[in-house]
Amino acid sequence: MSLSEPLKNKKILIGICGGIAIYKICELIRRLKNEGAQITTILTTGAEKFVNPVLFSSLSKNTAYTNENFFKPDGSILHIELGKYPDVILIVPATASFISKLAVGSASELLLATLLASKAPVYIFPSMNISMWENPATKENIERLKRYGYFVYDPSEGSLACGETGKGRLPEVEEILEIVKAHFVKKTLIGKKVLITGGPTKEYIDEVRFITNASSGKTAFFLAKEAYYRGAEVHLVWGLDTFPYVLPRLNYFSQIPFPKIYFVKTTKEMFEVAKSVFPQCNISIFAGAPCDFRPKTSFKGKLKKKETLTIDLELTEDIAKFLSSKKTKEQITIGFALEEREKLLNYAKNKRLEKFFDYLVANPLDAAGKSESDYVIFTPKDLLEFKNLPKFQLAKVLFDLLGS
Ligand SMILES: Cc1cc2nc3c(=O)[nH]c(=O)nc-3n(C[C@H](O)[C@H](O)[C@H](O)COP(=O)(O)O)c2cc1C
Repeated sequence: MSLSEPLKNKKILIGICGGIAIYKICELIRRLKNEGAQITTILTTGAEKFVNPVLFSSLSKNTAYTNENFFKPDGSILHIELGKYPDVILIVPATASFISKLAVGSASELLLATLLASKAPVYIFPSMNISMWENPATKENIERLKRYGYFVYDPSEGSLACGETGKGRLPEVEEILEIVKAHFVKKTLIGKKVLITGGPTKEYIDEVRFITNASSGKTAFFLAKEAYYRGAEVHLVWGLDTFPYVLPRLNYFSQIPFPKIYFVKTTKEMFEVAKSVFPQCNISIFAGAPCDFRPKTSFKGKLKKKETLTIDLELTEDIAKFLSSKKTKEQITIGFALEEREKLLNYAKNKRLEKFFDYLVANPLDAAGKSESDYVIFTPKDLLEFKNLPKFQLAKVLFDLLGS
């Protein structure tokens, strides 16, 4: 089981072209370095018109190559050496001009020659004015690059530096970073479907007041992300009003479908959606925190303020237990237990059996809303304990345990 960070010691070559979005590369280098990656940069002729390479050499703590280095009378053949160096290559921002040269196999400058000489996977992030992007010549060049095996990531939509609005923006740095991370995750779940419930639910007292809980949905998000990066078709049944996380569009260059996120409010809604998706899923993870109780009657409109109010509560559907009891031999279910520390072990052990889970992840009450927690994982055979495990690491641990 590996808990290592996906980008640690990975060698990443960034080819930088002369587009206006070049300013975002400083942040990209910084973020990749923070993740432990080793960065080398090559600037195109166009890129050098925008910035001095010292900016990138200082940030990457590595040489920032330019075309001046291409022909060196020192016996080395730089583009061949650079081509052998990386685990992955990013072309960012990729200009229309550079794309056209790459599409015809030109090797007229250092970055082009390095790409031609390299066997490393290449991700291309085009960024340009919308008319340049929509120009048939650019479209044809992009299609050709895709056919050659380059991974092309469509630009985002929004306001462009030229003052127009539309497709052409370089994706945010966070999104590019996530694509690189996803690249290094082994695709062990291709062809598998994974159901994950996440976040709290709300049970309405009247039309504006409700009962809920402190669940942040973080654990479910990390589980969904890990399953997605491993190649699964992910169905995330989500109890929060918004989804404040970045997930890259791996479907731009692979068969991995973008996760389907179902926004639900009440436990009943979470139950209905999960029930409809469950039969087709190979793995179901009940990381949601649905309210266990709901008011027997929910008032229409807004209740008037009175001295006191007594609300009769009834039990809601036990989503995890109901669905887990229906699983076939081929399906795996995983439950969660949030419990007071002292009672955790006993409670969790019983809960796994009572609710028909294959695996149960137990953590103490103080984990709610935090980024890390202590965990006890009950597998069909073992009990594993983890101290201060970040929630994103839990997702890796869990899928590794499932052997996927
Ligand atoms: C201010 C300015 C901004 C530019 N922004 C872009 C851009 O965002 N995308 C693009 O494809 N070209 C852009 N261009 C055009 C390229 O800089 C030009 O085609 C250049 O030759 C590309 O060089 P390269 O492919 O060697 O990097 C811009 C040009 C200028 C003057």
